[in-house]
Amino acid sequence: MALTPEQVFDSKVDQEIRIEPRDWMPDKYRQTLVRQISQHAHSEIVGMLPEGNWITRAPSLRRKATLIAKVQDEAGHGLYLYSAAETLGTSRTEMIEQLHNGKAKYSSIFNYPTISWADMGAIGWLVDGAAIMNQVPLCRTSYGPYARAMVRICKEESFHQRQGFEILLTLSRGTEAQRHMCQDSINRWWWPSVMMFGPSDDASPHTAQSMKWKIKRFTNDELRQKFVDICAEQVKLLGMTLPDPLLNWNEVRQHYDFGPINWEEFWSVISGNGPCNKERLDARVKAHEEGEWVRQAANAYAKKHRQ
Ligand SMILES: [Fe+2]
Ligand SMILES: [Fe+2]
Repeated sequence: MALTPEQVFDSKVDQEIRIEPRDWMPDKYRQTLVRQISQHAHSEIVGMLPEGNWITRAPSLRRKATLIAKVQDEAGHGLYLYSAAETLGTSRTEMIEQLHNGKAKYSSIFNYPTISWADMGAIGWLVDGAAIMNQVPLCRTSYGPYARAMVRICKEESFHQRQGFEILLTLSRGTEAQRHMCQDSINRWWWPSVMMFGPSDDASPHTAQSMKWKIKRFTNDELRQKFVDICAEQVKLLGMTLPDPLLNWNEVRQHYDFGPINWEEFWSVISGNGPCNKERLDARVKAHEEGEWVRQAANAYAKKHRQ
């Protein structure tokens, strides 16, 4: 007896065979992926803004070149991800529109301001560090184009994480004022980074289904715990501390225990009330409008070459 399309889909997922754009897939699977991949793409390009803010003020030519390269990488990540999402039948124009009209979300972390040079270090170490933790398992996600995009993204994220840590390491060996700047930045970015893994498992409505479809390989809380365990050790190399009095190695669990997360802040920032939500969206819309002539020129060029 022939298998139904759904049985074929399920057995592919079970056998770790990637689902490709032309394969039959449940509508919900498609919708979940479009939501997740476009959200991810939006985060990459909105994420360029807080750091782009420091390119003109980087303290040396080397730092400036590295920061420019990093911000460009994030634009590239956005491009791969929008392209991966487009293979599911949603156009890039549509996704960008949803970002601009506030219907689509992006990572809440980018709604916090970057007020010192040390923030470039803390973002690389903590924000890109949390992103890697999330993204490495996505290299094995069940949807082929998404998984393949993640391979290159992860290589670049690991460079981002290291350059950030190196900025903080340099500051941590500097003057009293530099050490203070370093600690202050860690204090401000720590909790928003811990929140990047999303709501805890019992408050995350999509997790169970996404795990079943092998879109997700670990739950939010599992990834968050790995992140805390790694950072709690790395911060010692900086001679700095994480702003959590309850952070403590638990011999029984073989993990660090950590203090409660302020979910009220998380939901408030996600729903548009963070310190920079408006500024970020305005900057995106402005960049889009000012780039209209580039899209027109690219279209005209493509048309000419088709003829
Ligand atoms: Fe990225
Ligand atoms: Fe990055």
